[in-house]
Amino acid sequence: MQLSHLVNTLPPYHFADAKRKIAEKQAAGVDVITLSMGDPDLPAPQAVVERLCAEMQRPINHRYPEYRGLRALHEAIAAWFERRFHVTLTPEQDILPLLGSKEGLAYAASAVLNAGDIALVPDPYYTVYVTAATTVGAEPYLLPMREENHYLIDLEAIPSAVLARARLLWLNYPNNPTTGIADLAFFERVVAFARRHNLVIVHDMAYAEVYFDDFRPVSILQVPGARDVAVELHSLSKTYNMAGFRVGMLVGNPALVDAVGRLKSNIDSGMFRPVQYAAIEALNLPASWIEERNVIYQRRRDLLVEGCNALGLRTESPRAGLYVWAHVPQGYTSKDFTQWLFEQCGVMVTAGANFGPSGEGYIRISLTESDERIRTAISRIQSVLRR
Ligand SMILES: Cc1ncc(COP(=O)(O)O)c(C=O)c1O
Repeated sequence: MQLSHLVNTLPPYHFADAKRKIAEKQAAGVDVITLSMGDPDLPAPQAVVERLCAEMQRPINHRYPEYRGLRALHEAIAAWFERRFHVTLTPEQDILPLLGSKEGLAYAASAVLNAGDIALVPDPYYTVYVTAATTVGAEPYLLPMREENHYLIDLEAIPSAVLARARLLWLNYPNNPTTGIADLAFFERVVAFARRHNLVIVHDMAYAEVYFDDFRPVSILQVPGARDVAVELHSLSKTYNMAGFRVGMLVGNPALVDAVGRLKSNIDSGMFRPVQYAAIEALNLPASWIEERNVIYQRRRDLLVEGCNALGLRTESPRAGLYVWAHVPQGYTSKDFTQWLFEQCGVMVTAGANFGPSGEGYIRISLTESDERIRTAISRIQSVLRR
């Protein structure tokens, strides 16, 4: 069959490939320790599961859902946003529930970009930013994020010829994969820059609620007037250990929220109502649920950071997110070292190069295995290195 140029040039999704390799190794009898995907291993909250089951029993919920989600879900998102970020959103206009935030990335790109436009992509990046731009014929322009700049982009380094064609700027803090974080002063600068250059900012905040110590990530919508130029994506995947439920949301600029709603209603038919009710249950949980869950991730972070530094994989302690971002040993590329860890130690991490050229020299290790499994991973690597 003759397939489109788009499909023929689309690379395989890295994690689909990694999952296949892990399954093959497991079938060969290897106990693989999976520190590659950001797929929470902890269960969704019990109240969420119970509400989902109860709503499944109601035949009314077996029918087509509302295209843009239940009013009650919009209200629960607005209330959560107010409590968490002290930002008031208008439930119907400023909020759109999504089937996970990943689809929101693709729709936002389609709603903003025309063929020939430029999308500004901080590098390293969640690969969907590039794919979402290229599928609509736009051109990604990479903005390196460097460790010495705390993984913040350098706006002044963008050439004016690029800015003239640029329409969209992706941002992602807490950042995947670098674990970089942004403060309000940075967001203020970016919002002012977007106004000057007529850019739309899409801030992906999938890791908003995985934070450590006394750090709390801020929303770009906390900048006065940000809603004129920005939208933000949130997700229940990492926030409430609900990756399989597929719940996310787009919030912010009402024109863009409406445009994505229009696109979506032409392509999908909304979110299964029991899942929407389950999402409301999650959003109504007290902040203590998040804090207690984050204690578990923080312990894992500490184990991994200490283990990596002891192994010579230099890293700093991240303040948010689901990952540790560590240097590979001298003499290895990130892909070679990842391959070595997988073949010699049965430990799967992700090579930094999978996230773009600026990811070379690093590996990304996720916090989604238990303390015991993390200890086992470190001691396996130690003993292979000793040999
Ligand atoms: C930076 C970033 N954005 C978005 C997503 C998508 O999350 P979901 O579609 O589960 O909401 C992920 C998932 O790993 C991510 O790392």
